[in-house]
Amino acid sequence: MAVNSPRLTAFLIILILAALSLFLTPFVQTPGRNNGYSPKQPIAFSHRLHAGMLKINCQYCHFTAERGPHAGFPAVATCLNCHRYVKGSNPYNRAQIQKLYYYAGLDANGQPDPHLKPQPIPWIRIHILPAFVRFDHSRHITKGVTCQTCHGPIQTMDQVTQYSSLAMGFCINCHRDVDAHGLHGRKVHASLDCAVCHY
Ligand code: HEC
Ligand code: HEC
Ligand code: HEC
Ligand code: HEC
Ligand code: HEC
Repeated sequence: MAVNSPRLTAFLIILILAALSLFLTPFVQTPGRNNGYSPKQPIAFSHRLHAGMLKINCQYCHFTAERGPHAGFPAVATCLNCHRYVKGSNPYNRAQIQKLYYYAGLDANGQPDPHLKPQPIPWIRIHILPAFVRFDHSRHITKGVTCQTCHGPIQTMDQVTQYSSLAMGFCINCHRDVDAHGLHGRKVHASLDCAVCHY
């Protein structure tokens, strides 16, 4: 169909843009303020089981949190320290652990499978600050701010949910508070300077 009316063309373009923006809105949502966000993960890994019931330390898996800006996700090898032997005591757990084997390049019995290539587990990232914000885990962890202060009771969650808003007020309110009252009885200086948090 040839469209030769400029007004009709303009109308069609607007229609297409409107449809596109409807389709894209969920993806271009401002990062950061996503409290309540809880995507389904490629493997139904439960923090309630691992960090809650089994009491595995958070930093056994997120060990870069006290060393640098990112807490990071554990490598498949960290999971295999246990799951080489722990194959699941019920059908549901076994099915989820089979997925772990698949990403690790192992067969159903946990043995290397020449047809499979090991690949990282494509975890869906939940907490994401906008690119113009600077955040550093280690600066907080080394001063004794607990993971739960910002992430909530992760050890009770079967599926992780973003607990805090991560809006600017969330950061600033605590910085102001610890500067005034100290933290665990020690003086700290958490900056309110724009340039400390913004590039
Ligand atoms: C056995 C390993 C393991 C332990 C122990 C563990 N985690 Fe995790 N954590 C993971 C994995 C794997 C993911 C990615 C899948 C998911 O979101 O559940 C994750 C995701 C997260 C996320 C979401 C990250 C994001 O934004 O996508 C947070 C927050 C988190 N963990 C905090 C904690 C805290 C706090 C503890 C201790 C109470 C803890 N974790 C203990 C393995 C672990
Ligand atoms: C310290 C040992 C240990 C480590 C490390 C560990 N697990 Fe587990 N995991 C277990 C045990 C024990 C169970 C319970 C198995 C059962 O009895 O069915 C389990 C159960 C599971 C299950 C099924 C139950 C559920 O929904 O969580 C999944 C999936 C799983 N683990 C994934 C992982 C992943 C992914 C990692 C690495 C990020 C990991 N595990 C690291 C010990 C561990
Ligand atoms: C002061 C608040 C705060 C504390 C304390 C904190 N986090 Fe985070 N966490 C965040 C923010 C903010 C992000 C998003 C960072 C970004 O987008 O750069 C995040 C992201 C994450 C992620 C996603 C991957 C990554 O590296 O960004 C994981 C996993 C995580 N945190 C785990 C932990 C664990 C485990 C602890 C405790 C050892 C912890 N966090 C303590 C605020 C915090
Ligand atoms: C629960 C309280 C708390 C929250 C919430 C918090 N912070 Fe902090 N922040 C601190 C403390 C304590 C320090 C360390 C101060 C020190 O080293 O004396 C710190 C230090 C920092 C530093 C290093 C400052 C410097 O001078 O180099 C940055 C950057 C930072 N925070 C950014 C953030 C951002 C961004 C957020 C929000 C996503 C946030 N913080 C949320 C308590 C908090
Ligand atoms: C402790 C860390 C921190 C400090 C200090 C800080 N900001 Fe922010 N700021 C943030 C975070 C986190 C966001 C992202 C909020 C979001 O995702 O909605 C943000 C967002 C913003 C935005 C985007 C609009 C908005 O509200 O989301 C502007 C503009 C801004 N900051 C300006 C400033 C200025 C100006 C200062 C100094 C007076 C400052 N910030 C100091 C953490 C900080």
